[in-house]
Amino acid sequence: MCGIFAYLNYRVPRTRKEIFDTLVKGLQRLEYRGYDSAGVGVDGPRKNDNGDNVNICLIKKRGKVKALDEELYKNDSIDLDIELDTHFGIAHTRWATHGEPNAVNCHPHRSDKNNEFVVIHNGIITNYKELRKYLKSKGYKFESETDTEVIPKLIKYVYDNSENDYVSFSTLVERVIQQLEGAFALVFKSIHFPGEAIATRRGSPLLIGVRSKYELSMEQIPIQQNVRNTLSPFGCHYMYLFMYCVLLPCSLHAVIYLQDDDIAAVAEGKLSLHRMSRCAGEDPNRAIQTLQMELQQIMKGNFKAFMQKEIFEQPESVFNTMRGRICFDTNTVVLGGLKDHLKEIRRCRRLILIGCGTSFHAGVATRQILEELTELPVMVELASDFLDRITPVFRDDVCFFISQSGETADTLMTLRYCQGRGALTVGVTNTVGSSISRETDCGVHINAGPEIGVASTKAYTSQFVALTMFGLMMSEDRISLQKRRLEIINGLRMLPGLIKEVLTLDDQIRSIASELYQQRSLLVMGRGYNYATCMEGALKIKEITYMHSEGILAGELKHGPLALIDKHMPVIMIIMKDACYTKCHNALQQVTARQGRPIILCCQDDPEITKNAYKTIELPQTVDCLQGVLSVIPLQLMSFHLAVLRGYDVDCPRNLAKSVTVE
Ligand code: F6R
Repeated sequence: MCGIFAYLNYRVPRTRKEIFDTLVKGLQRLEYRGYDSAGVGVDGPRKNDNGDNVNICLIKKRGKVKALDEELYKNDSIDLDIELDTHFGIAHTRWATHGEPNAVNCHPHRSDKNNEFVVIHNGIITNYKELRKYLKSKGYKFESETDTEVIPKLIKYVYDNSENDYVSFSTLVERVIQQLEGAFALVFKSIHFPGEAIATRRGSPLLIGVRSKYELSMEQIPIQQNVRNTLSPFGCHYMYLFMYCVLLPCSLHAVIYLQDDDIAAVAEGKLSLHRMSRCAGEDPNRAIQTLQMELQQIMKGNFKAFMQKEIFEQPESVFNTMRGRICFDTNTVVLGGLKDHLKEIRRCRRLILIGCGTSFHAGVATRQILEELTELPVMVELASDFLDRITPVFRDDVCFFISQSGETADTLMTLRYCQGRGALTVGVTNTVGSSISRETDCGVHINAGPEIGVASTKAYTSQFVALTMFGLMMSEDRISLQKRRLEIINGLRMLPGLIKEVLTLDDQIRSIASELYQQRSLLVMGRGYNYATCMEGALKIKEITYMHSEGILAGELKHGPLALIDKHMPVIMIIMKDACYTKCHNALQQVTARQGRPIILCCQDDPEITKNAYKTIELPQTVDCLQGVLSVIPLQLMSFHLAVLRGYDVDCPRNLAKSVTVE
């Protein structure tokens, strides 16, 4: 799981310093994907008789992109002011999967000591052991422990063994990827093809950003099967290759989403796209799209961390999830991406909600209301476990794939598994153009805006609201459910305002956090609609504060967890005025009877709770099935303050990355 970025300038002189700055800026925007080491590959100073650069210089550094940035300027052998008329530079920020984080394992990886071919990679090559063994038998010496290193070695092997014919760079790459299994987004650079760039992908996302002196007059780039087709309107003066929707360091945000087995080649400033020969008969067009992101959307503003900013954005992000989809006059909900499939969904055998981590919790949080509104059986499944069990899936099942990034490998694999068994697949994602949103039959975009903090916050509340809206849409013509629907639609209308009210509790929560931050553990307890809140709160706490935290179903307390309770164990209990109120109250008695000192998240004006609590955090009340949107926010804030007080980097928790594109 890594971030890859590349930059090409063609017949536009750029100093090496400007090139470094562009590469570093690109990496910084992708740093949330991995930050244990970073590296760049740029042309070195040696030239041949034609004036082409014939050596590649690799600079790699353990640690964050900032460390690499400093390293670039320490290197005396590199003249920063020298102008390069045409240049292709590649860059990578890593999150280790094979081999520990160090400079050797860091990308770019190379074919040999002369750096004839260098490669950056995101993903995992599953057959790397076999390839490594084969290449070793041919005399190749490996320096890193990574799976990636087989790729530059393999391309050199193919190059060396096709000496008698001229083979283009893209053909070499095609021959290499024919041998690869697993997932990859790859960018290649070579001293044998100066100024040329090749990129390809399978299972990992990759985008091309183009800036040309020509107008973008075409809406699609046609690909001709196996024909080395160059597209003159796409003479690129600048080109960027990157993953996900990072803002391009230029004013024109025209992008092309590469699809699996596309090979993009740039030679002499011309971009051409090719398909692997085995893909004959597939859609031959690639749309050019415009990125709709504002710079301020990806900046931290006055907040200390992206996570904090994203928590405070929730009144707006939840509103954006609903915008244009709920008509409060007619009490109707229309999710455009689902409306054509409603009949089929209403006839289904069951709904299966599938996700990982926080996205899984959004499924747990909305299961009950979906059961009530759709009158269908609803299963909620962790993607990895679903696949491990080889769970039976049928043609009349409807499977929802909930994913902020839309790229989580476990969820994506499960999607393909369900598709293979004929189920209707529905994406619930936050990333337009992501693999999950493209590969599902239909879906909902949650419109929460970019989420940069590794710990997911606003995506959860937007997923929650989107799934609830789906339930409302399904129940539109159920007469017996109209009163309930009305209550929920009114609740949704008030929700952004109530979230704002909850956010005013920030100071109180910080002060409670200052009492708790030196503790080792923190239990979070609740039931019914708030069981998911407990799990989600505990996940937030463990991932950014590194404290042990558990979300406990209050109904299970007496079946084991009660043994943990004493006067030293910090406990947060969620007790809202809903159908589980009395039962939660019983759990509270069980905790106080063991000298527990619970901090209670409760509704405003509940003296019965206040008198049994060590402290209370009082929340405005909403409809039972939406209360979880409000009650999760104090826990998001609590985890944030605990992490800051413990001195941790909130946006970059150790061992984690924003998007888990490996299984
Ligand atoms: C926790 C968190 C993760 C993700 C999980 C799934 O704060 O962010 O648990 O929710 O990795 O990611 P997506 O939603 O992108 O599929």
